[in-house]
Amino acid sequence: MMPSKTVRLKIRRQDAGHRPETKRWEEFEVAWQPQMNVISALMDVQKNPVTVDKKRVAPVTWECSCLEEVCGACTMVINGKVRQSCTAMVDQLAPSGETITLEPMSKFPLVRDLIVDRSRMFDDLKKVKAWIQLDGTYELGPGPRQSSENQEEAYPLSRCMTCGCCLEACPQVNDSSKFIGPAAINQVRLFNLHPSGKMHAAERLETLMGEGGIGDCGKAQNCVEVCPKEIPLVDSIAQIGRATTKHMLFGWLLK
Ligand code: SF4
Ligand code: SF4
Ligand code: FES
Repeated sequence: MMPSKTVRLKIRRQDAGHRPETKRWEEFEVAWQPQMNVISALMDVQKNPVTVDKKRVAPVTWECSCLEEVCGACTMVINGKVRQSCTAMVDQLAPSGETITLEPMSKFPLVRDLIVDRSRMFDDLKKVKAWIQLDGTYELGPGPRQSSENQEEAYPLSRCMTCGCCLEACPQVNDSSKFIGPAAINQVRLFNLHPSGKMHAAERLETLMGEGGIGDCGKAQNCVEVCPKEIPLVDSIAQIGRATTKHMLFGWLLK
């Protein structure tokens, strides 16, 4: 009888509670199934967390939600490349049964195993006011109409799922820098473009003109290459760079 096909996963693990001394690799083997993705392989590991050297260990933890590359929760480093594990197909990663390595993203605080805390991205969205402020205590009436050209420019920018791939790939995002990163800069472009969002355009630009703002981008362009939503991040950085320069030179005229 032919031996049944297996999938081998080498997983970077660390216990909860910020304990780098527990950092280790563990390897698991699970039965291959057609159309298997990394999440389904991890689910099989969870059912029977026994390593290849027959040691029963604590189940591996990871995060996922939508399973269709929309929420960003399952982002991790797979075979050295940051991406979503729900759309990482086992047959493409290991066509001849190679070992698949899984590691957590390195630019975010580690929670446990493959789970990281992406709060900094959501805090940065708050910092740049990545929303359209329409709440009021009185009737505001209809807002300005959004032209179809404006919608066309905005749509690709709006596809960001705050997954963190661009921060993981950016050399300027590191422990010794406060750089906000490309995702938040792109959101400033999105909301400053919107006919109602423009009301807070100056505040958003001013946030990016401060420490850790757009001036810290080294223009290495790694971000655009890893963005799963193909967001034109380099264009957004260039556009916002021009807008901040203009605001610095002429913004006082508008005050
Ligand atoms: S262009 Fe380079 S430095 Fe700037 S945000 Fe993208 S990866 Fe980071
Ligand atoms: S810009 Fe792209 S890579 Fe960055 S967080 Fe958004 S979707 Fe992810
Ligand atoms: S589970 Fe939502 S992007 Fe993978």
